[in-house]
Amino acid sequence: MSGSRILSLGHYQPSRVVTNNDIAQLVDTNDEWIRDRVGIVSRRIAGDETVADMAAAAADKALANSGLTAADIDLVVVATCTSVDRSPNVACRVAAKLGISAPGAFDVNTACSGFAYALGTVDHAIRAGASRNAIVIGAEKLSEFTDWTDRSTCIIFGDGAGAAVVTATAADEAPGVGPVVWGSVPERGDAVRIEGWRPYVAQEGQTVFRWATTALAPLALQACERAGVDPSELAAFVPHQANTRIIDGIAKRLNIPQAIIAKDLVESGNTSAASIPLALSKLVERREVPSGAPVLLFGFGGGLTYAGQVVRCP
Ligand code: UT7
Repeated sequence: MSGSRILSLGHYQPSRVVTNNDIAQLVDTNDEWIRDRVGIVSRRIAGDETVADMAAAAADKALANSGLTAADIDLVVVATCTSVDRSPNVACRVAAKLGISAPGAFDVNTACSGFAYALGTVDHAIRAGASRNAIVIGAEKLSEFTDWTDRSTCIIFGDGAGAAVVTATAADEAPGVGPVVWGSVPERGDAVRIEGWRPYVAQEGQTVFRWATTALAPLALQACERAGVDPSELAAFVPHQANTRIIDGIAKRLNIPQAIIAKDLVESGNTSAASIPLALSKLVERREVPSGAPVLLFGFGGGLTYAGQVVRCP
């Protein structure tokens, strides 16, 4: 067994669309400021759905697209920072909803870099022989942790989930999930926080912005190098969907004019750990990236944490 690859993807978003103008009814902001400074036009906000409901809905679609059944899955990993319940974890709830019997099941919390961390962990589990077919999910209900009177944060976030079925590759098959480059800047961990018993997201926006636009491009290039992929070969770049100015800043430094740059935040907002699988799932659903083509994923956020890898498009 040489490694792992993404077999299929799926995503789920709540039906309620909240526009910038809707938010301008709540706080002193306007559509032009949000579009110019962040790049978001609308976001989806959940109703009764829990993080586990959204995670299971995305996973169900990914599983349906994979050709496998629940009986084939032996590992479920959920990246989230907005699960309200301390136990059971979201992964166990997803497994119960999907009828997956006796899987390894755990959650990963590295906030917005969570999906890339979880995918790296699943790849390692498959390489080690601890799993053969896994589901890795990013799912968030940030609306429950948003102070809807704070214009510096309430304009940013959205809810949703994205999922990937990841399977072992054969010994003679090239791996489809490249080596993960992961790390953190714990001394600046307070720059993005969801603290306390009734917490709201708080962040030092400009600190994170400066870090993201200066420190991350070299790390993303490292992920390409470790996968043996030249940036000029990338078909797409799917970074965490925080701000179009951050995305453009990193993409410029990667020098990848040929690549599709995912900007799903325009219509989804920042969905933290869900943003990368959500954006990737939509690119694949719209057939914008050919099967087998290399795609660079790169997540960053609270912690401050980062993680990324090159994957082959399913
Ligand atoms: O996903 C987790 C990781 N997080 C991130 O990656 C976030 C990174 N940071 C950012 O994306 C940006 O820093 C923000 C979008 C959060 C903020 O944009 P900014 O360009 O850094 O704005 P700012 O905080 O420097 O504020 C600029 C001005 C201020 O007014 P003054 O002091 O210049 O008069 C703010 O009061 O914009 C004002 N402002 C707003 N105006 C209208 C702040 N929020 C708003 C708003 N509407 N919603």
